[in-house]
Amino acid sequence: MKKRLDEIVEEAITALNTFEDHHDLMNLKSRFVGKKSELMGFMKKLGSLPKEERPIFGQTINNAKNKILDKFNEIEEKLKNLEYEKKIASNKVDFSMPGRPPLRGNLHPLTQIWREIEDIFISMGFEVAEGFDIEDEFHNFDALNTPKDHPSRNLADTFYIGNDRLLRTQTSTVQIRVMENFEPPIKIISPGRCYRNDKPDASHSPAFHQVEALVVGEGVTFADLRDTLNGFVVKMFGSKIRSRFRPHFFPFTEPSAEIDIACVNCGGKGCNVCKHSGWLEMGGAGMVDPNVLDNLGIDSEKYTGFAFGLGIDRITMLKYNIPDIRLLFENDLRFLKQFK
Ligand code: PHE
Repeated sequence: MKKRLDEIVEEAITALNTFEDHHDLMNLKSRFVGKKSELMGFMKKLGSLPKEERPIFGQTINNAKNKILDKFNEIEEKLKNLEYEKKIASNKVDFSMPGRPPLRGNLHPLTQIWREIEDIFISMGFEVAEGFDIEDEFHNFDALNTPKDHPSRNLADTFYIGNDRLLRTQTSTVQIRVMENFEPPIKIISPGRCYRNDKPDASHSPAFHQVEALVVGEGVTFADLRDTLNGFVVKMFGSKIRSRFRPHFFPFTEPSAEIDIACVNCGGKGCNVCKHSGWLEMGGAGMVDPNVLDNLGIDSEKYTGFAFGLGIDRITMLKYNIPDIRLLFENDLRFLKQFK
């Protein structure tokens, strides 16, 4: 019997060495060590042997079985590795393939122009000052020399939020905040959001953007105002675009002017964009009223200053030929995606 067991072990090992696939392997296992195998048949015959011989034969059979199982485990392990390698090979990874680029967004057109405006003024020696969207009457009106009965203070024009708080109607508030805190010479711009109780239409939005400029120093003149503004307009819109001032009134500047630039669409000949006037309104400007300076403790005998305010939305619309200001606030991706 011992001889036969050795033969079985040898047969099993030879067979296992020539297995073909996993199914084959399981068949071999049951053939050699399964319940109906010859080897297990010996096990069943143990009972008919004399008592003293049983343990030795039992062990001999077990040894044979373990030898076969060891080989089986070894082959099974090999098979697993092989299958894994096959899997990798079939899922071929092409390391030279270009990757999928992540989707890239773009800045809002207003943000793009906002930054361009800042860059231009910074190149002209200005610093950027920030104010607050929520202001008080002092900074939005009183300190700007605005009489108590001025129409702009009206509920129909200004959003009040109670307790001497309102949404600023202009970035001129930042003039005041800067002059309260800094001595001349002052040379700042302040871009930001403003609010007015306007019905939205193609050219009005209750929230909009202005950029304020303020220069205060010794010997600052109206000529400096003209020069600075022209410098900006040329850098923003090109050297062919002229600007002009029309007399106007603002409570906090004297003299005051409204700023027009030659129509960027037709160059001044007249077209739909400029309503056939050849000019586009850009904002307001003037020499800082001595009252404003004195009220903030800046000696108006020694210092003079100029200020102007331009519409950032307006500039953006002109730069990109956008027909309706509301497009800037609707966050419609079909619109925004065009500004890559
Ligand atoms: N704040 C003014 C407006 O909103 C514009 C302006 C700014 C005028 C600075 C003069 C000086 O209409």
